[in-house]
Amino acid sequence: MKIKFTKNGLRGTLTVPGDKSISHRAVILAALASGRTEIQGFLRGEDCLNTLKNFKMMGVEYKENKDKLIIQGKGLQGLKKPGKALDVGNSGTAFRLMAGVLAGQEFITKLTGDASIQRRPMKRVTDPLRKMGGRFSGDTAPLIIFPSKLKGAAYESPVASAQVKSALLLAGLYAKGVTSVTEPVLSRDHTERMLKNFGVKLRTENLTSGKYKAVLAGGVTKLQGGLKINIPGDFSSAAFFIVGALILPGSKLLLKNVGVNPTRIGLLEALKKMGAKITLKNKRLFSGEPVADIEVVSSALQGVEVGGELLVRMIDEVPIFAVAAALAKGRTVIKNAEELRVKESDRIKAVVEMLKAFGLKAAETSDGLLIDGNPQVLDKLARINTYHDHRIAMSAAILGLLNKKETSITDDKCIDTSFPNFAVLLKEAGK
Ligand code: S3P
Repeated sequence: MKIKFTKNGLRGTLTVPGDKSISHRAVILAALASGRTEIQGFLRGEDCLNTLKNFKMMGVEYKENKDKLIIQGKGLQGLKKPGKALDVGNSGTAFRLMAGVLAGQEFITKLTGDASIQRRPMKRVTDPLRKMGGRFSGDTAPLIIFPSKLKGAAYESPVASAQVKSALLLAGLYAKGVTSVTEPVLSRDHTERMLKNFGVKLRTENLTSGKYKAVLAGGVTKLQGGLKINIPGDFSSAAFFIVGALILPGSKLLLKNVGVNPTRIGLLEALKKMGAKITLKNKRLFSGEPVADIEVVSSALQGVEVGGELLVRMIDEVPIFAVAAALAKGRTVIKNAEELRVKESDRIKAVVEMLKAFGLKAAETSDGLLIDGNPQVLDKLARINTYHDHRIAMSAAILGLLNKKETSITDDKCIDTSFPNFAVLLKEAGK
């Protein structure tokens, strides 16, 4: 993909595709429900399409009707043994959540994924699932998951990870007794919200220590059928356009129907601290998830320090946040972001390399980045190595709009995992 300089900023009204995290969960829970579920706004990106395909291999039927995805659930006990290995492609979310579901089945499965998945840490789910009685061939992909009878457990997770939390809650659907997960800071809570919509008894608590606990009652017999789920636009996709509009002079952009769940929008808080002009309009709920239209105009930004619980709520947005920081006045410090080392790529390393390719100043720390920002128009032939990471590719594309010389992104195919029409929308907004 080659990106050209954009003179007039990003303008107009856009709708980004459906939320990736919620789309995975919608397919998984609909597949396990007793009856049919109608899903509106499903993300037809590679990651979520793989999840759909994997459940089809376990006997789940679906049809697509205009913009709706209709899934005929098999009930909690209705999945059948797939004929071959289940492959999640690039998706850590799918791998970890499916590990939770598959641990409770009466058949053996093999779960695998691409080269990035095979490198990523899966012990964070196999370990606690073993405490529930789960049986696995090892702690990395590919993983053989053996049939077992699960029992509830009280697990205190050392990391704030929605994937770990969700894997355990999904396994809890098959467990005898109560399953609880405590995490140091509340991570995205889409699983909890959706389980409640499917009629599952789940209690959540904010503990006085600042920790968060989700408790699933044992003995779940079914997830109710007949639900209609409306999936909001993905805030993580909108984030590229939000930062693009901020850093490109002359921008005014309205992003419609974007999910603004508080566990996801730390980026907005960080950007507002930097002086960003962002307004949330028309706030409402889609299937229990907060949604708004987001208006953004170009803004002069100042460097800032981010870390701690705010960082958890903006973890996927750090690559594009780093782009904003590099164009802000002064130093930005990103701390407590060690999780970025084990995402689709080592995002600390990949982001620093990407910024440097544009002639910008950034350095790695063990748990984050130091960025010495400077508002400017870029003027450097930039060739970007994405490490096959969609969020690195899209962050580079946004910077490319501000570059007078050509930006070439060698591997842009990875963008299809989360945002298949990214290039089309970018062109539309950048006209
Ligand atoms: C996700 C959880 C987060 C996030 C990922 C999606 C999810 O990962 O980075 O992109 O849908 O549950 P962790 O659980 O590893 O923090």
